[in-house]
Amino acid sequence: MTGVGADGIPAARATDGLPWWQKAVVYQIYPRSFCDTDGDGVGDLAGIVRHLDHLSWLGVDALWLSPFYRSPMADFGYDVSDYCDVDPLFGTLADFDHLVAEAHARDLKVIVDWVPNHSSDAHPWFVAARSSRDDPHRDWYRWRDDRSDAAGGSGPPGSPGRVPNNWRAAFKGVGGDDYPPAWTYDERTAQWYLHLFLPEQPDLNWDHPGLRAAMIDTLRFWMARGVDGFRVDVTHGLGKDPALPDLPLALADIPISGLNDDPRTHPLLAELRSVLDDWPDPPERMMVGEVFLPATSQSLDYYGAPERPELHLSFNFPPLLAPWDAAAWRAQIDEVQELFGPRGAWPSWVLSNHDQPRHRTRYGSEARARAAAVLLLGLAGTPFLYAGEELGLEDAVVPPESRVDPGGRDGCRAPIPWDGTSTHGWAMSDTPWLPWPPDADAGRTATELRADPSSILWLYRHLLRARRDSPALASGTFSWVPSTPPPSSEDQALVWQRVHRIDVDGGDVESVDVRVVAVNFGSTSAEIHLPPGRWQVEVSSLVPDGSPREGTPQLEGSWVLAADEAVVLRPLTP
Ligand code: GLC
Repeated sequence: MTGVGADGIPAARATDGLPWWQKAVVYQIYPRSFCDTDGDGVGDLAGIVRHLDHLSWLGVDALWLSPFYRSPMADFGYDVSDYCDVDPLFGTLADFDHLVAEAHARDLKVIVDWVPNHSSDAHPWFVAARSSRDDPHRDWYRWRDDRSDAAGGSGPPGSPGRVPNNWRAAFKGVGGDDYPPAWTYDERTAQWYLHLFLPEQPDLNWDHPGLRAAMIDTLRFWMARGVDGFRVDVTHGLGKDPALPDLPLALADIPISGLNDDPRTHPLLAELRSVLDDWPDPPERMMVGEVFLPATSQSLDYYGAPERPELHLSFNFPPLLAPWDAAAWRAQIDEVQELFGPRGAWPSWVLSNHDQPRHRTRYGSEARARAAAVLLLGLAGTPFLYAGEELGLEDAVVPPESRVDPGGRDGCRAPIPWDGTSTHGWAMSDTPWLPWPPDADAGRTATELRADPSSILWLYRHLLRARRDSPALASGTFSWVPSTPPPSSEDQALVWQRVHRIDVDGGDVESVDVRVVAVNFGSTSAEIHLPPGRWQVEVSSLVPDGSPREGTPQLEGSWVLAADEAVVLRPLTP
């Protein structure tokens, strides 16, 4: 383990003056699904403002807003037709300014989603680009001729045998079985354009200086409106081998959006980073990138190097895709510890988002979702929450006739139920754009859970409070607590220690803050070994405020976690 001192206590990591995004817990809002105030059944910016007090009460530090820009909504906003305006469905720029002001008044940072890999086909740039091969915007997108006979093409122009390469697009479409080609033929100009996602999402060509400058202007537009950072959609898609070569056959059925990992992306990201770093007004503006690639080491590459930084934070997806299993999670955590530490990269952790089944659904029970909250908020790095996980929401069951997403992701995008009324705090006149999640009519709403101090909502609040109050949890070092006998693949519990130590005068300890986090992944009780000293339960996934764990006011030596239980322990003060 890196950074362990001679006394067995992990060495100090400077925490004073840490940038805000290292101390923050970020909360993702999918605006369509958060809260509707104008009665159309789709959430809006005013609905976000309405619930900012919920987020302050919960104790998060920053909001990431999925896209609210003008869009034909083929991919529900990830198809942007104007990067510098709000879609009327969500409100106006004035509503956005109001949201930022209200968030900042509550000390909540605002991160907006930025979609640089592709625009909408309705964006004026693409409308111009497809109007003629000579249009000045033509090369802002990626166009190719029919595959030639010499390269194995066959058939009439624009026919499937002439697709320029073997890349597949990401979505099968509602009811579709196969990933379609990542190319669409444009009859008028008799060339194909590339789209890693839907045909309505043509890929932008980041090799073109005009496109780069125009997109960088959109970053400045939002920074000038006060946003604190960007979540960069499909970060790993920006740079491409200009030859756009065929994939090896063994990979050819996998969408290229999950494989493209071209070195040309890195100088582009470094350029974007310098745009943020050069922004004159505080606070530091932050970029967190979606790097949806199979290996943790790949997500790490997108941090760049100290002398040429790229992302501040990179989403690392393998843990999100890992099963609820101690050995699997131990391996994921070890890999991050071993790879990120030496590179000075700050990890991020996320269990749910708008693209994947919720972890409550994947892991199979509320008890596990509660334990997972302790895991997520007990790790070293910046945690990201997805709206509704604090309510323990499951994915909605969406009947085939109601499916709307070409990527099959409707379930995790179900509307947030705010209260126990028939419209759950939404102002809609009809039904919301997707069905409510399970149990919305049986008390699983924000208002009802808030009335129950034993609820998962209170668990999140206690965990967020514990993290805010403890420098060890917020930014301390990480080390496994050795077990006796040593860990084996049979172990169903993981136990680790977080330590924050400030050294002064060459090593005299001024203050030490320590927390132990223990997670039982199993559905039977598990004995764990504690570090030396006496401990008390600060938060338990079973009993959010930790206090009523009867018979265990002082813990020493070893202790038994209940089935599915996870805890934060703090040193017992006399
Ligand atoms: C990212 C987004 C996803 C979107 C895709 C295309 O993966 O998270 O929701 O569909 O990019 O923009």
